[in-house]
Amino acid sequence: MPKLLIANWKANKNAATTVQWFADFAAELTKRLDGQKLAVKVVITPSFPLLALARQEIDTLMADWKTRMLPECGIELGLQDISQFGAGSYTGAVAGQNVAWLKPNLVVLGHSERRQYFQETSAQVAAKFDQVADLPATAVVCVDRGEVVPQARALGPAAASKVIVAYEPVEAIGTGKHTGVDQVTQVVKEIKTAFTAQTQVLYGGSVDELTINEYVLVADGVIIGTASLDGTQFARVVAAAQSTPMV
Ligand code: PGA
Repeated sequence: MPKLLIANWKANKNAATTVQWFADFAAELTKRLDGQKLAVKVVITPSFPLLALARQEIDTLMADWKTRMLPECGIELGLQDISQFGAGSYTGAVAGQNVAWLKPNLVVLGHSERRQYFQETSAQVAAKFDQVADLPATAVVCVDRGEVVPQARALGPAAASKVIVAYEPVEAIGTGKHTGVDQVTQVVKEIKTAFTAQTQVLYGGSVDELTINEYVLVADGVIIGTASLDGTQFARVVAAAQSTPMV
């Protein structure tokens, strides 16, 4: 299975900077790959209002790149969140039905910023998982170390066996703090014990082009925030991941 790289744009960007990002990303990645095929799966998660534009940009890029990717690799669209309610009278919410037409490949749930600033709980994350089940998308559930067991319990065994889990230590998010690979390896084990042995586990927290290699060796992929905001810089992160032996 190819490594999964998620570009988490959070609440950044507008229409003009989104278009610019794709132009910069495509130009730099083409240069860096230098004729090699793309061997990782990249998912871009813009804020809701930018999804349709990003979908258009991705479709154009993928049409151009048809022959330049290994099977199961390429660029996909993802969501940063979803409402815990279905479609209906929930002003301000975004339900699966509202975004299904944009063909999201995955939905990030329970990011620490959602837990911290929006008081999201593991029970709410479990309710959101049920909404993701309505989409042809996989849920990526973010947890810090102390949330591994409570989140697996809140999801229940059936849901827990279907999600991808991202280990995101709060102290490393947006801070430049480098989490030791031994610690990531240990928490990946704890996640596989609490979820399932087959669960794909990602790491997220200040990953950049200099550190991505070590993380993709011990995790199934990474979530990248700050280093994904500039298209040129993110293309370098992707190229660095791909250059890791065994990726
Ligand atoms: P960061 O963000 O790369 O800026 O630390 C990662 C994340 O929030 O998922």
